[in-house]
Formats: sequence, structure tokens, C-alpha cells
Amino acid sequence: MVKRMIAPSLLSADFGNLKSEIEMLNASQADWIHLDIMDGVFVPNISYGFPIIETIKKYAEKPLDVHLMIVEPQKFIQEFKNAGAYMLTVHYETCTHLHRTIQQIKSEGMKAGVTLNPHTPISLLEDIICDVDMVMLMSVNPGFGGQQFIENTYKKVLRLKELILRKKSEALIEVDGGINYETGKKLFDCGADVLVAGSFVFNSDNPSEVISRLKYS
Ligand code: DX5
Ligand code: ZN
Repeated sequence: MVKRMIAPSLLSADFGNLKSEIEMLNASQADWIHLDIMDGVFVPNISYGFPIIETIKKYAEKPLDVHLMIVEPQKFIQEFKNAGAYMLTVHYETCTHLHRTIQQIKSEGMKAGVTLNPHTPISLLEDIICDVDMVMLMSVNPGFGGQQFIENTYKKVLRLKELILRKKSEALIEVDGGINYETGKKLFDCGADVLVAGSFVFNSDNPSEVISRLKYS
């Protein structure tokens, strides 16, 4: 059963009005709040760190879905737990010992997710799919908001759904990047459970209504 959840990404929010942006999300149909953490090494951009995450946590009334776009994410697992992460998602491409990193995230009491870049095949998840709470598929190359959706993602969602069913995994499927009404609807139809939307939500005149429409239409 597809869950149809929405996780707005604060990357495109107005950081000068962070508190009111979060209050808008609290009052909206959003399920989670998606935080994009970038280190300028794994991705060609730097976003924000712990002081901002702690501020977000102070006002957020919804679970924090933390997307780590950093090298050596295993070094910071406890810090992200302390900062208030509910779901901690690491990139497959950054984890030499992915199994160990996933177990460490879970042992801190967080949900553990793994993310695949657009070029990374679903087949690599065969032996980890039963250990993760979520797989996130990047539908843009990570690093920036506002990029164009990569169409090959639909096939990847279908392939991932097939793997999850075959292995009797309970992993959720999340998709991140380039989500709008059209791509969002098709992704839910393919079997995605959670959609991350940044610029489409925050660049609109009525972010709260966009969240509802993404979820229900
Ligand atoms: C990109 C981030 C995304 C980004 C999505 O590296 O992981 O979460 O905020 O932004 P949009 O929805 O604008 O593509
Ligand atoms: Zn993200």
C-alpha cells in the first residue's frame, strides 16, 4: 500500500524567516520536513549545519528527514541523533561499509535510509534492502534545488518496488528532486511512498496548498 507522504525540503525556504516557514509546514499536510546537508566535497555545494538544524528542531512539530550529502557520514551519526533527526539517510556512494553504517544509525534509535544517485543501479541494493527503513532515489544530481527531473527515475521506482516485494522488505520508497504535480502523480502511481519537494513548494504563492495538492491529487 502506497503511503503518499510529502516531505518539503527547507533548502528552498526563506532562511530569514525560518521560524514562520516551519510554522507553515507544521500547519500543512506535510508528513516530514526534509533537511539537505551538503559538505562541498561529495556535492558541489554547501548548505547548513548543526546550529541551523537545532533551530529547525526547536520549532518543527513533524519528523526530520535528514538527507546527508557528505563524505564519511558515519562520523556524525550521534551528532545528528542529538540534533533531532528522525530518519537519517546516507548516500550509497559515500559508504564503504554501508551495512555497518545502517546498523549504527538504527542503534542510535533513528530510522535508517540509503540514497542512490541517478546513475547508481537498484541491483546494488539486493543485499541491504531488508536492513534499511527507506531507499531514496535521487531524481536529480544532488547539490541544488530547482533542477529538472530525470525521467529514468520512474523505471527505477518500478524496479525498486519489485525488489522490495521479492525480498519481503518493508522499506519505504522516497524520491528527491524535480517534483511537481506531474512528476509527483506519476511517481505515486509507480509505487513511491514519500516525495521530497523543495522549489515547487517554496517558490509558490501558496506553499501549503501546493503540499496538499501534491499529496491528494
Ligand atoms: C538536492 C536536494 C533536494 C532539493 C530538491 O540535492 O537533495 O532535496 O532540495 O529540490 P527541488 O524540489 O527544487 O528539486
Ligand atoms: Zn534532499
